[in-house]
Amino acid sequence: MKGVILAGGTGSRLHPLTRITNKHLLPIYDRPMISYAIEALVNAGVRELMLVTGGTHAGEFLRLLGNGNEFGIDRLSYSYQDKPGGIAEALGLAEKFVAGDRCVVMLADNVFERSIRPCVEAFARQERGARVVLSRESDREHLRHLGVPQFDGDRRIARIFEKPEQPPSEFAVTGVYFYDQTVWAVLPELKPSGRGELEITDVNNWYLSKGLMEYDVLEGFWGDAGESIQSYYAVNDFVRASATKKGA
Ligand code: DAU
Repeated sequence: MKGVILAGGTGSRLHPLTRITNKHLLPIYDRPMISYAIEALVNAGVRELMLVTGGTHAGEFLRLLGNGNEFGIDRLSYSYQDKPGGIAEALGLAEKFVAGDRCVVMLADNVFERSIRPCVEAFARQERGARVVLSRESDREHLRHLGVPQFDGDRRIARIFEKPEQPPSEFAVTGVYFYDQTVWAVLPELKPSGRGELEITDVNNWYLSKGLMEYDVLEGFWGDAGESIQSYYAVNDFVRASATKKGA
């Protein structure tokens, strides 16, 4: 299974910080944000990675990560997204890299307390289709800024709503997605959303409509450090507190 880390976009919700650097290079406690996604994948056994980024600071990633070996990566490839056309557009740039394999996609602003290894192993056992990782979230205001699943009577996901006014459940769809090779046929069919982007939620809803989507619920802390300045600091506080606890 190949890993694709998405670190493009404008980071506009963290302006003006992101006017002078890429969002995923901002510090989370003692390391740049991108480090947490890399560790999540490497520690789950995914060691062939592509990093997709864009904008004016792309070169800094090379300076930070080099060939990736220091981070436990066996093979690190890079791609460049010309304009921030959405998560699904950024994923499309990894098609030739993934070539014939399956992939796990991780948004570079996501930070998890627990290992995603059980999800990676579950997808390795899954015959085909896609898989998403959910996190419990009871704050409805927070859910309005995320992808939220609606469940049917059998606790299967019926549909995912992107940034819903009325969240249909108390779960968030995190930024970790698993896809089989069908995804490369789905991407070219997507139409830009209201915000002018190709949405990953549309990809996930395609799999749901075919009955080809499974999910995991990952317990423990999960944060999207790019969602707002509040969530950026919430993630920082969590990481710092747990590092201090471990050191004590
Ligand atoms: O973090 C989880 C959430 O991520 C999910 O709950 C949502 O369903 C999903 O749509 C996404 O929502 P966001 O609004 O947080 O996505 P955002 O535009 O912040 O993009 C997330 C990451 O994807 C960003 O940190 C870098 C990457 N990205 C984004 C865009 C728009 C790219 O690489 N290229 C892009 O063009």
